[in-house]
Amino acid sequence: MEVEFTGESSLQYAGDAVVVGVHKGAPATGVAAEVNAALDGLLHRLIESREITGKQSEMTIIHTWGKLPSPRVAVVGLGEVWRDPLLAVRHAAGAAARTLRDRGCRRVGMALHLQVPQAVRLEQAVRAIVEGAYFGLYRGGEWKSEQEWPDELAQLSLLGVSEDASDPVAVVGRAGRLAGEVTNYARRLVNQPPNEMTPSRLAQDAAEIADAVGLEVDTLDPDQIRTLGMGAFAAVARGSEEPARLIVLRHRGRREGPRVAFVGKGLTFDSGGLSLKPSEKMSRMKSDMAGGAAVLAAMLAVGEMKLDLDLIGIVPATENLPSGRAFRPDDVVKALNGKTIEIVSTDAEGRLLLADALAYACQLGATHIVDVATLTGACIIALGHVSAGVMGNDSALVEAVLDAGERAGERMWRLPLFPEYRSQLDSNIADLKNVGGRPAGAITAGWFLREFVGETAWVHIDIAGTAWNEKDEPHHVEGGTGAGTRTLIALAEHMAGGEA
Ligand code: BES
Ligand code: ZN
Ligand code: ZN
Repeated sequence: MEVEFTGESSLQYAGDAVVVGVHKGAPATGVAAEVNAALDGLLHRLIESREITGKQSEMTIIHTWGKLPSPRVAVVGLGEVWRDPLLAVRHAAGAAARTLRDRGCRRVGMALHLQVPQAVRLEQAVRAIVEGAYFGLYRGGEWKSEQEWPDELAQLSLLGVSEDASDPVAVVGRAGRLAGEVTNYARRLVNQPPNEMTPSRLAQDAAEIADAVGLEVDTLDPDQIRTLGMGAFAAVARGSEEPARLIVLRHRGRREGPRVAFVGKGLTFDSGGLSLKPSEKMSRMKSDMAGGAAVLAAMLAVGEMKLDLDLIGIVPATENLPSGRAFRPDDVVKALNGKTIEIVSTDAEGRLLLADALAYACQLGATHIVDVATLTGACIIALGHVSAGVMGNDSALVEAVLDAGERAGERMWRLPLFPEYRSQLDSNIADLKNVGGRPAGAITAGWFLREFVGETAWVHIDIAGTAWNEKDEPHHVEGGTGAGTRTLIALAEHMAGGEA
């Protein structure tokens, strides 16, 4: 799809459809009011008759009968006026792009970025809309043998903005396009069935990324993982016939300054191991590599953008399966940093992989570490499927992650790592145990990770609730969401000093 910027207004643009938004319970304003006037008040009549309610992402397609150069106007709901305006236009753009493509449109003009309040910068709105459109256009179903897919959108035009390619709006538009594309790449990785998306296949994808954008890549096999001293990661990997991989990508954008590491949980399937999950909780556990997918996708974007940043991406990848070789509850394992861990549940495996990966990031000289992981069911209990949980040992880095999440349109909420929680991990026989009981389960998991970063500034993002979308909605289909991807990109842009 081509994304272009044009000075043309919605009354001048001649594509297949023009998209404008209306708020819930409000008359058409701004560009929607202009379209309303050109259509002799039709929008207002539809609003009065309640055929258009303005509910978030509601779509109404109107034929213009020659009153506008475009044959259709798509009116999309922006929800309540008091809701987050950037999230509203992001989702509306996704719903509009998806619906119009499915109705056979090829060239679509968007005016939604002109409908955010004055306080919101045009660049931010444009980025949200471009990212949102890509997000909406993603489709699953790669494994259906009968593909009945309508053609792709050929062109998305952002109306009423400068056509100059060096204009800041065009620059953020390109960044938004890249962020949208790589988010969908992460979603594809997550949606791959686990018999195809094995640890070695994930490593192969990482090698392709490295090749495509010029990153260094290093992949460690099970022998190397064990020899290095990653006893926690190796323990989880033991039960599976599929060989584990430690994937390390490096973007050397800058020699001095901070060295940032993104670490992603890469469980290509989590059965729980010997602490086997009940079957209803086991389905969808192919998505337990969503953190790893986000890290790979973000590395792809950062490499493509050639950001001025020294960045390492680390993804420990394995399956967690029961077998005669599997690690057991009651085992004691030793992580790379020398700490010993009593295994209480083999289903709390993500933190074991991450323990070694975080310690490895420290060994590689990282000054700032951010990990992304589908880590705990407890985070879903705390924040539902709306927001990721954020924890860390460095308030400045936590704030930077929360800000990046906001720019990226990903809900993030901080949970406290109060020292009182730490005692829940005390073990009688080892340095700590891998489960801290049911109370504050997301936080004790965060505390567990903290034990492996020493004094290095570190933030943990628990995406257990946001990595998978349970049902088709106007702006996105069921399946992987690419959670974390855009936040990591926005953070990398910020740390490289060129924030959007
Ligand atoms: N991968 C799961 C967490 C998860 C649950 C992600 C649901 C997405 C949806 C993780 O490995 C796990 O099983 N965690 C356990 C930890 C417990 C044994 C302390 C959990 O949350 O139940
Ligand atoms: Zn588990
Ligand atoms: Zn898991």
